[in-house]
Amino acid sequence: MNIRTVGVVGAGTMGNGIAHVFAKSGYRVILADVEQRFLDRGLETIRKNLEREVAKAKLTGEQCEQALDRITGIVDRKLLADCDFIVEAASERFAIKSELFRDLDSRCRPAVIFSSNTSSISITKLAAVTKRPDKVIGMHFFNPVPVMKLVEVIRGLATSNDTFTSVRTLAEKLDKTPVEVNDAPGFVSNRVLMPLLNEAMYAVMEGVASPEAVDEVFKLGMAHPMGPLTLADFIGLDVCLDIMRVMHSGLGDPKYRPCPLLIKMVDAGWLGRKSGRGFYQY
Ligand SMILES: NC(=O)c1ccc[n+]([C@@H]2O[C@H](COP(=O)([O-])OP(=O)(O)OC[C@H]3O[C@@H](n4cnc5c(N)ncnc54)[C@H](O)[C@@H]3O)[C@@H](O)[C@H]2O)c1
Repeated sequence: MNIRTVGVVGAGTMGNGIAHVFAKSGYRVILADVEQRFLDRGLETIRKNLEREVAKAKLTGEQCEQALDRITGIVDRKLLADCDFIVEAASERFAIKSELFRDLDSRCRPAVIFSSNTSSISITKLAAVTKRPDKVIGMHFFNPVPVMKLVEVIRGLATSNDTFTSVRTLAEKLDKTPVEVNDAPGFVSNRVLMPLLNEAMYAVMEGVASPEAVDEVFKLGMAHPMGPLTLADFIGLDVCLDIMRVMHSGLGDPKYRPCPLLIKMVDAGWLGRKSGRGFYQY
């Protein structure tokens, strides 16, 4: 597979990070979103983050400008037809992603691989809306994408070995470390992380300890760089709740029941860092 041009769909938190790492590694990137203002915000973030790398002498000013020149922002999805590879990083809704995959399936060449950065939606189910289920795969990057080394590479039921090998090689070319995972609710990262965060919330709800005390236990006793409640605020409490719900319904085990305090906080609009209030005030 000769990949030169990568289509990144969604210019939000993850999409702009994914466009950043592909452009820095020499790929041409077509970055798509539904409105120009989302593209402008994404492109501005990419510029700021690349400039930060220049300030830290990880990149020259010339390399920064070259990377930026490789990225084209578009709102007209037709322009994704020429891409050699697709990474979908649109909002975490099956209806949005399935509509995108169905539409791109009719526009892109049959050999083009479609990858999704979804945190929890079934790759097998997304693949089934296309006529190329063997070429659909999960490519799960972590936030912030330019910094985090891991990419979970998720095989759907129909994903071919050729597709898997191509995506693993591609992740390595981005200087990431791919880890192979099979398709299951929450994959590995969220399957293991989210119940930890959820249990920390139960500890607060039941008055076992304050959020500060819970976080301190994990920082000092387990050498975690940040405590579970600080991390939950950083991820977004609405995102945590969505993922717990996907695991609860998908795995059918009561141990994944979302903490009632989490549900209440999301109902109140306390979504963590992004809304100014979560387990902490920002
Ligand atoms: N935020 C994280 O820490 C994180 C980590 C790993 C994976 N993810 C996953 O990455 C994906 C994106 O998450 P995010 O945090 O970047 O969300 P975000 O809300 O920051 O960005 C999503 C972007 O997708 C755009 N979009 C929506 N529908 C679209 C469409 N039809 N075509 C093109 N663009 C469209 C939105 O306008 C928005 O700009 C989700 O699937 C999420 O589960 C998120």
